[in-house]
Amino acid sequence: MILVMGASGNIGKEVVKGLSARGAQFRAAFRSAEQAIEAGKNGTKAVILDYAKPETLEATLLGVEKVFFVTSPLPNLAELEGNVVDATQRAGIKHLVKLSVCGAPGEDFKFSLPHRAVEKKIEASGIPYTFLRPNGFMQNMLANAPTIKGQGAFYLPFDDARVSQIDVRDIGAVAATVLTEEGHEGKAYELSGPEAHSNAERAEILSEVLGKTVTYVSPPDAEWKAMAMSFGMPEWQVDGIIDLAQYYKAGKAERVSPRVKEVTGQEPIPYRRFVEDHAQAFR
Ligand SMILES: NC(=O)c1ccc[n+]([C@@H]2O[C@H](COP(=O)([O-])OP(=O)(O)OC[C@H]3O[C@@H](n4cnc5c(N)ncnc54)[C@H](OP(=O)(O)O)[C@@H]3O)[C@@H](O)[C@H]2O)c1
Repeated sequence: MILVMGASGNIGKEVVKGLSARGAQFRAAFRSAEQAIEAGKNGTKAVILDYAKPETLEATLLGVEKVFFVTSPLPNLAELEGNVVDATQRAGIKHLVKLSVCGAPGEDFKFSLPHRAVEKKIEASGIPYTFLRPNGFMQNMLANAPTIKGQGAFYLPFDDARVSQIDVRDIGAVAATVLTEEGHEGKAYELSGPEAHSNAERAEILSEVLGKTVTYVSPPDAEWKAMAMSFGMPEWQVDGIIDLAQYYKAGKAERVSPRVKEVTGQEPIPYRRFVEDHAQAFR
């Protein structure tokens, strides 16, 4: 039995779809009872757990052999995921698949630090593991849909940095494959999309697909920080993105990884298709 934690999130939903498509036996874990009930209506075996409450983890791990887990970008990610590692170790889980981040091995930017801390804890635990280390998500652009719709523009502090972003659907497909096939234990997979783009190039693709001009603006850090915080983004996250921008601008996230195709047998989704599939959200 496989347990998918974080099943309500961007990636968790795709892991659930991937496992369903493969006919795998799995349960999906939700923090909210409402979401668990909703998933149950669609035929998914749903359970409720909260990483902050270890007793709920123990209960949902009964009869489970393999676990996928992911956590929202939260300042206490290492602590929450540490609880997951402890519980899966106690439960004798045979394979733990952790959603991590590119840059984790070198602790290259602030967001990578808690992920590497959890990876180290897993390595020390003796639990057979696979780490998925994706580059930035194409779906991040959906957060800019309001200004793309309203002003025909989006604002990010990345200058002309090129990043080989990945569609979360490909991450879900990789996770589902890793959970249902042998031979992925002890591996760390760097995951990217099929090409690196700058945001100016993404603006061109958005313009072509949406049939209207979309402009990319890269404001100075302080200006972007004020703008992002006025939209409600917490300061630690804003500072994390500005820090990540240095990694991007140094060209460190440009590399295209062959892993999606190697693991799933499918070509990774190009940026244009991501935009075509989400055109309604940007219109
Ligand atoms: N965005 C990027 O470009 C990027 C790139 C590489 C790596 N990452 C990493 O990807 C992760 C985010 O993935 P995502 O977009 O799928 O996140 P997401 O949509 O926020 O989903 C996160 C899931 O974690 C669950 N969760 C959060 N706290 C929990 C708790 N205490 N107990 C149980 N479940 C909990 C959420 O449940 P609820 O619905 O109940 O909140 C949700 O199902 C982060 O770790 C981030 O560092 C992001």
